[in-house]
Amino acid sequence: MMRYTRIIGTGGYLPKRVVTNIDISQTVDTSDAWIYERTGIRSRRVAGSDETASSMGEIAARQAIETAGIEAEEIDLIIVATGTPDRIYPSTGCLLQQRLNIQNCVAFDIQAACSGSVFALSIADQYIKSGAADKVLVVGSEICSRVVDWTDRGTCILFGDGAGAVLLEASGQAGILSTHIHSDGGYEDLLYLPNPQSAAKANRDESGYINMRGNEVFKVAVNTLGRIVDETLAANNMQQSEVDWLVPHQANTRIIAATAKKLKMSMDNVILTLETQGNTSSASVLLALNEGIRDGRIQRGHVVLMEAFGAGFTWGSALIKY
Ligand code: COA
Repeated sequence: MMRYTRIIGTGGYLPKRVVTNIDISQTVDTSDAWIYERTGIRSRRVAGSDETASSMGEIAARQAIETAGIEAEEIDLIIVATGTPDRIYPSTGCLLQQRLNIQNCVAFDIQAACSGSVFALSIADQYIKSGAADKVLVVGSEICSRVVDWTDRGTCILFGDGAGAVLLEASGQAGILSTHIHSDGGYEDLLYLPNPQSAAKANRDESGYINMRGNEVFKVAVNTLGRIVDETLAANNMQQSEVDWLVPHQANTRIIAATAKKLKMSMDNVILTLETQGNTSSASVLLALNEGIRDGRIQRGHVVLMEAFGAGFTWGSALIKY
């Protein structure tokens, strides 16, 4: 029997504190109108000082586990996608395993910047299809607010905090139809988050903050995501019209609109969260998926295209029959 990967539960968590564009415009030279027009963002959530990627991930994961109606101990593998781990090691995956009190499973982190959740979905799909795992928990959790320079108007307006989770199970029924992931390390300088400790040791003068050449990133993102749509549809012999929902990484409304156009899709069929969440990096696709499923827009049997683009550059997609 063919083994497929099916979604059996999703979850999400957003910290309480809301930071609006107007709040940001009190401290840097920008305006609500400029930010909204260029990005589609009005506000973002910012984690409290007691919160971490693992604490937020735990809340999202517990919601996914509860929705799936399984016991946490049934999980074979935990993959956490994060660029803002609690510690470099132990992995946030291990910290989450401990928080969920699971004795017998494997846990690790993957790091693919904003593409992290799509990369993690792809890895999970390989484990399940091959028979190496039956139930996999994928979590994307980020505290971007701690790695943005709040005096840099080119980046501080974009990012937010949050966690998303999805529980996957082996099934005879599709499922994930295909995943496609790519990277090109040649774009390092356009978007990076230094590790200040290793930079200092190597005598590099680098801050601990996200560095980005926004306009250049924007152009590559639009082109690359257009290509990933073609690649995904071709691999599945599908037409644009067969995709019911686009669940994109939430970086910028204009980037998302370009991808929707490529799919000849109305923005009504796009799950958008960035207006109130900003770019939550590896959490964003899973948060959007969770929202679309919970509010009833995404129904069983619908075809959903998830895609993401991030530092590296990294990019990828997952086509799913929910
Ligand atoms: N408020 C007001 N003005 C701003 C500003 C802000 N927050 N940020 C930049 N500007 C200014 C610039 O200084 C520049 O001024 P100048 O012409 O006097 O030099 C002008 O606006 C245009 O800058 P530019 O960077 O070309 O703007 P843009 O239209 O590309 O918008 C981003 C900037 C960051 C919103 C946009 O490039 C973007 O979203 N890029 C993609 C980033 C992304 O998604 N990264 C994550 C990938 S996972």
